[in-house]
Amino acid sequence: MAEHRHSGDEAPEGWPEGDTPQEISRRRFMTMAIGFVGGLLALAYGGLGLRFLWPASQKSIQWEEVGTSDEFKVGGQPVLKVTHNQGSEGGAWIVRLKEEGLVAYDMHCTHLQCPYTWAGTSFACPCHGSQFDIHGNVTHPPAPRPLRRRAIKEENGKVYVGGIIS
Ligand code: FES
Repeated sequence: MAEHRHSGDEAPEGWPEGDTPQEISRRRFMTMAIGFVGGLLALAYGGLGLRFLWPASQKSIQWEEVGTSDEFKVGGQPVLKVTHNQGSEGGAWIVRLKEEGLVAYDMHCTHLQCPYTWAGTSFACPCHGSQFDIHGNVTHPPAPRPLRRRAIKEENGKVYVGGIIS
């Protein structure tokens, strides 16, 4: 039985055997669509890669003044400072460590986000008992990871805290 083609499917004179112009344009459309989706994926992964390679210090950080440099001495106790640039419940525990200098920990436990406190020799969460050392490392679970760090800097004798960086 002879294959019937609609008049619109007819290949023009001299067209190679096989594909009609509609089949070719469908194939071209599919190729372009796949290329477009591939391009989007490349952009998305490229963006993630750049984000990984681009240090947090290079991003625009919203700094908030939280005190003066002389409040934080090596060997001193961590101090909780309320911040507003992360919402009304924001805050950071700030301490000057001998090895690392000034560090700021997000005030929320890495288990289920309860605010924790400094208990004299470690950070302690009242909700489920997690504890962290002064470097933010978990010393008692269930917290699954160290305390989150926030950006911190000193300028002209003042201390500024930014958003979460790790
Ligand atoms: S929220 Fe801190 S231990 Fe669960």
